Amino acid sequence: MTLIAHFTDTHLGQRPTIDRNVDGGRMQYDRVPDEHGRRLDNVLDDMVRRGVSAAVFGGDIGLGESVAGFFDRLKALPLAMSIVLGNHDTHDDVVRHWRPAVSAVDRRLCYSRPGGPWRSIVLDTSDNAIGEAQLAWIADQVDGAERIALFMHHPLLAVDTPVEHAGAALRDRQQLTSLLVQTGCEVVVFCGHYHMVDDAREANIRQLMSPAVSYQIIKRADRITLDSSTYGYRLIDLSGVEIRTEVVLLS
Ligand SMILES: [Fe+2]
Repeated sequence: MTLIAHFTDTHLGQRPTIDRNVDGGRMQYDRVPDEHGRRLDNVLDDMVRRGVSAAVFGGDIGLGESVAGFFDRLKALPLAMSIVLGNHDTHDDVVRHWRPAVSAVDRRLCYSRPGGPWRSIVLDTSDNAIGEAQLAWIADQVDGAERIALFMHHPLLAVDTPVEHAGAALRDRQQLTSLLVQTGCEVVVFCGHYHMVDDAREANIRQLMSPAVSYQIIKRADRITLDSSTYGYRLIDLSGVEIRTEVVLLS
């Protein structure tokens, strides 16, 4: 068994608030240099204690000035890392510290790795869209594949929650969904972005959303509501044809 950790949305140095002057509420962030650092340390400690050997970070490191410290923390650990860009991340800031062996599309952090029964594919949705170039690339990648583990910051399938209705959804998700449905292969999407745990399905696609390392957003509410009482990450075992996964929540 090879345990992978999926941890996401650290938002280092960013304390969230909600602007209630906007219909449904809009997320904004105050600059608080140490914000969420302890939570990231606790999550990384927990992973190492459980014998995790590889980890995928799901995006949204935090303030630009937090990026170097984020990678310093990771480099000190015995973890093989993969990085997914989120809408708070900047390509150039991140590739100064980490880059894949081959990035398939120019100036996009997208890459693919075979490994066991699941082909892992990472997409870059940092500008809130997949874009034509990545769509063309992934069409090639999924051709003939049996099982795809797709890591991206934004969810692909709709989730009925106020954040989704407040305009945070990925713009061209329908194009990728149609493409994946047509392949008929088994697809599991691992995402973050909405700061909540969710398990959704549509046709041959299953979507597992991981909790944020920073703060959560209540899934069922009339309007965007924050919850700072818990944080966590997801453990994944991709060594068999059946994916095994477990959410770890800390408080
Ligand atoms: Fe986030």
